[in-house]
Amino acid sequence: MIEYGAIITSLRTPDRHGQIGDVVLGFDRLDGYLAHSPYLGAVVGRYANRIAGGRFSLDGATYELACNDGANHLHGGRRGFDKALWRGTVIDDDGSPGVAFSYVSEDGEEGYPGRLEVEVTYVLTSPRDLRVRYRAVTSATTIVNLTQHTYFNLSTSAKDVLDHRLTVKASRFTPVDAGLIPTGELRSVEGTPFDFRSERPIGARIGTPDVQLAVAGGYDHNFVLDRDDDRSLVLAARVVEPESGRTLEVDTTQPGLQVYSGNFLDGSIVGKGERRYGRRAGLCLETQHFPDSPHHPAFPSVVLRVGERYFQETVFRFGVLDR
Ligand code: GLA
Repeated sequence: MIEYGAIITSLRTPDRHGQIGDVVLGFDRLDGYLAHSPYLGAVVGRYANRIAGGRFSLDGATYELACNDGANHLHGGRRGFDKALWRGTVIDDDGSPGVAFSYVSEDGEEGYPGRLEVEVTYVLTSPRDLRVRYRAVTSATTIVNLTQHTYFNLSTSAKDVLDHRLTVKASRFTPVDAGLIPTGELRSVEGTPFDFRSERPIGARIGTPDVQLAVAGGYDHNFVLDRDDDRSLVLAARVVEPESGRTLEVDTTQPGLQVYSGNFLDGSIVGKGERRYGRRAGLCLETQHFPDSPHHPAFPSVVLRVGERYFQETVFRFGVLDR
């Protein structure tokens, strides 16, 4: 991991034969991240995902944000947390090794109110967990939605992720309009290509005629995780790559999960080992609050007030199938 964007640049896990391989997309050199990176491996903030019209109101005041995704605000704006220089410190978390990345986002940065002090820690816990903890405090009422934008490919090869088998613990998702802004509906996944309650290859239904798949060019949707309204860690998703036998489970305290099948990757980016990242070369599992929450009072709140402590946790648990 590196201080620029608090980016995870490499993550090596064994396959079923004990062969170690890198399961995340990225670049061999810093230049790649600086030049043009679709958030590969980065922490995303202040507001991960989209805010319609790049505008929101809070306590009677209206705030203007950059519209960097058509008419909408995406992933914190022109210079989001993915492009910030964080300060990394090696930590020992109860005997587990980790790094704490801290960053201060000044009042008004990218248009957001309040001076936000953020800390993201990555800790490796036994046997093969990557624990990501997000903390923040603010000097004025603001909105926060932090996530991790790693693109996984458990095959470690140039193959796309369509054969990866996915389970998502969600009975509903948030359908979107043409600008990928939620309509506000929490729609049942029953009978749709969004039903991953039992394991399905990502590619099995991605080509079926479906309005929601069509607007996003595949999966790029927020799933409403099945959970009680508490803040405990629950299983959100599981991924199995059948050839290598590698598995990944994602636990989170968050209410939502953006499943993004790398639809916008088009082969123009040359990543690690000179590999071109073509369409669907990686899968993002972005634990988050729902997109455009400031415009949907019925969605879980993203407001952070003075004196409150923002805390979220996501665990990426790596494993292999039993032989
Ligand atoms: C997120 C969004 C996608 C896309 C990627 C970055 O996952 O939901 O639409 O913008 O980030 O390319």
